[in-house]
Formats: sequence, structure tokens, C-alpha cells
Amino acid sequence: MCHPAYWVVFSATTALLFIPGVPVRSGDATFPKAMDNVTVRQGESATLRCTIDDRVTRVAWLNRSTILYAGNDKWSIDPRVIILVNTPTQYSIMIQNVDVYDEGPYTCSVQTDNHPKTSRVHLIVQVPPQIMNISSDITVNEGSSVTLLCLAIGRPEPTVTWRHLSVKEGQGFVSEDEYLEISDIKRDQSGEYECSALNDVAAPDVRKVKITVNYPPYISKAKNTGVSVGQKGILSCEASAVPMAEFQWFKEDTRLATGLDGVRIENKGRMSTLTFFNVSEKDYGNYTCVATNKLGNTNASITLYEISPSPAVAGPGAVIDGVNSASRALACLWLSGTLLAHFFIKF
Ligand SMILES: *[C@@H]1O[C@H](CO)[C@@H](O)[C@H](O)[C@H]1NC(C)=O
Ligand SMILES: *[C@@H]1O[C@H](CO)[C@@H](O)[C@H](O)[C@H]1NC(C)=O
Ligand SMILES: *[C@@H]1O[C@H](CO)[C@@H](O)[C@H](O)[C@H]1NC(C)=O
Ligand SMILES: *[C@@H]1O[C@H](CO)[C@@H](O)[C@H](O)[C@H]1NC(C)=O
Ligand SMILES: *[C@@H]1O[C@H](CO)[C@@H](O)[C@H](O)[C@H]1NC(C)=O
Ligand SMILES: *[C@@H]1O[C@H](CO)[C@@H](O)[C@H](O)[C@H]1NC(C)=O
Repeated sequence: MCHPAYWVVFSATTALLFIPGVPVRSGDATFPKAMDNVTVRQGESATLRCTIDDRVTRVAWLNRSTILYAGNDKWSIDPRVIILVNTPTQYSIMIQNVDVYDEGPYTCSVQTDNHPKTSRVHLIVQVPPQIMNISSDITVNEGSSVTLLCLAIGRPEPTVTWRHLSVKEGQGFVSEDEYLEISDIKRDQSGEYECSALNDVAAPDVRKVKITVNYPPYISKAKNTGVSVGQKGILSCEASAVPMAEFQWFKEDTRLATGLDGVRIENKGRMSTLTFFNVSEKDYGNYTCVATNKLGNTNASITLYEISPSPAVAGPGAVIDGVNSASRALACLWLSGTLLAHFFIKF
């Protein structure tokens, strides 16, 4: 044990040596020889090692100008700081559960032949990237502007990027920044966006945000249908919309409903069907399919037209070379009974 006054002088002397412009050259043959800079992750332990020789009479490790250990005596009140080795050739301490505020210069200070000498090592603390705050899933109307935010911490400071996941490889990156701004958003810009925070410490932290873009219905499929009297007829109408469209069917100004006039209306996802169980003459005509959501509505006119009953629907035996069933139906619609007679002779 030394008299405390000794250490006051000792540390004052070493403090003088910290003045910038007096760098400790690495490769210096003289002791003490601290290791190269020490890099550890937050939460891990850092070992500060100092190589000495038997000419050394006094040793200490300092955090900036504060003595942590002098010989075997602990000066630091921090329980995370412990001594590891104190031999004539090595003097090492350990800092457990390292945090970012521990980053900085540490100094091994020795006394040889009454000359104080120092060697400095930088403790560098790394923190894996972590996304701290990210926008929630959002629903907007087409044409509006959207800003997503992704805040990440880490050491070194992580690089933050945004990617549109629903988009083909290669055109994925939409922002190289914490903010993703989309003005006048279009329906094809809906979907999942991925924020990625990257530094070279650990695997990137990745989170996803979903953008839903509302748009009014548009009818993508509405086909006229021919059916003969007494048969089952189906009219169908397909609409894309967000939120999903609701459908109504009209004949002239009359709204149709399941159960009335032998029809059934079925809505399944983007598709609505109007089924006639037993088509009669009065069913032929134009129908209107109306697709509605909260952003608007649209409609399409679909015709249920008459086709004559024909052997064409009698089965596979009725196939005529080079004429498909659709054109056959048309032929039946327009051609006279002589053609039908021809068929009957054939079979
Ligand atoms: C080192 O010094 C810094 C600044 O005073 C302090 O915040 C930190 O806790 C110290 N670390 C150790 C291991 O003494
Ligand atoms: C140690 O770290 C300090 C501070 O980051 C830096 O200035 C110095 O060049 C580093 N030394 C070595 C040997 O890497
Ligand atoms: C996230 O960021 C937003 C916008 O800056 C802020 O209003 C909110 O309080 C933050 N949330 C958290 C948990 O930090
Ligand atoms: C279809 O309607 C007609 C006339 O209304 C009727 O004679 C026939 O039996 C019905 N067919 C079926 C399968 O219900
Ligand atoms: C039905 O619709 C078609 C095309 O939209 C139109 O040419 C035809 O005149 C309409 N028929 C009736 C009876 O309204
Ligand atoms: C269909 O759309 C037209 C024009 O958009 C509109 O004038 C008409 O009233 C609509 N019909 C129905 C039944 O909604």
C-alpha cells in the first residue's frame, strides 16, 4: 500500500502525459505496452491488458484521468471493474457489462526507475442495430400522400433503408433514409414495406409496415351470356376495389334480389353472379351490375340473350371440325332449321 499522496502526484504526472500531441507510438520497445484498441459489444466484457517487465515498480489503469486500479487496490467504486492479472509481466483489468458511456481512452500507467510512463488504449463499444420507432400500418385513399418513419439506434450509426416488398426484384429500394415519402400514392404502391437498419456489428434489424390504398371500384369483367329457354343462366360481374366492392343487380330500374323471380345473387370476393334457375322469354334483356364501395361506384351493362336449343349442347358427339362451341352457338342462333335438320340426318 502506498501513501495516497503518492498517487495524487502519480496521477497528476500521468495526467500531464495525456496532453494531446504526445501520442504513444505503437511498436515502442519500452514498457508499458498496452494492447491495440479494444472493440466490444454493449453488454459484453472488455479486458484491458498491459504488458510490463520486472523493472516496473508501480502500475495503474485509468479511465481518462480517473484511477480504476492501482496495483491490487481498487479505486473505482464501479462493481463492474475487476482486476484479472497482476504479475511482473502483465497487468490486466476487466470491465464487465460494458455500456456506451464506457467508450473512450483508458491508460496503463507505470513507474519504472522513478520515471512514469503510459500507454493508451481506446475502448470502442458497438451496439447492434435496433429499430426503436416505426410507423404503424396505414390505410389511405389513392392520391393522398404518405410518410413512413423508421428510427433506429446502433453503434456505429445504422444505415436505414426502405424497400417495397410487393415489387419485383431490382426496383425494390424506395428510400435510403429513415423517411419514406410517397406523394399521390397509386393502388399498385400498396403492400408491405420493409425497413432495414444495418451496421457491421450484427444482423440487420428488420420491420414491416403495410400500406393499404383505397380506390373506387372498377369492373374488370362483365360478359354477355347466351342461354336458351328452360336452361340455367348465369351472369357474372367482377370488380376490383379497396375496400372490396358490394354488388347490386338491376333490370331496368328494378333492383333484383335472391328469391325473387327465380334468381339468386351470390357475392364471392371480387365476383358477383346472378343465376336464373329456369330462363324464360321475359328474362332476356339488359342487366346492370353496380359495384360500390365508400369511394364510389361504377356499373356495367350485361345482356342475357336467347340462343336456340340445339344438339350442340347434346354432348361431345356433336363436335364439328374446325368450329368451336361458341361459334356453334352463334351459328345455331342465326341459321335456319335446315342446318338443324342436317345435324339430325348426321346422327
Ligand atoms: C469511464 O468514464 C466515463 C466518463 O466519466 C464513465 O461514464 C464510465 O462509467 C467510466 N467507465 C468505467 C468502466 O469506469
Ligand atoms: C484507437 O482509437 C482511437 C479513437 O477512436 C483512434 O484515434 C486511433 O487511431 C485508434 N488506434 C488504433 C491503433 O487503431
Ligand atoms: C415515434 O415517433 C413519433 C413521431 O416522431 C412520435 O410521435 C412517437 O412518440 C414516437 N414513439 C416512440 C415510442 O418513441
Ligand atoms: C321452367 O319453366 C317452365 C315454364 O315456366 C316450366 O314449364 C318448366 O317446368 C320449368 N322447368 C324447371 C326445371 O323448373
Ligand atoms: C342493351 O344494351 C346494348 C348495349 O349496351 C344496347 O345496344 C341495347 O339497345 C340494349 N337493349 C335494351 C333492350 O335496352
Ligand atoms: C351507371 O353509370 C352511369 C354513368 O356512370 C349512371 O348515369 C347510371 O345512373 C348508372 N346506373 C346505375 C343503375 O347505377
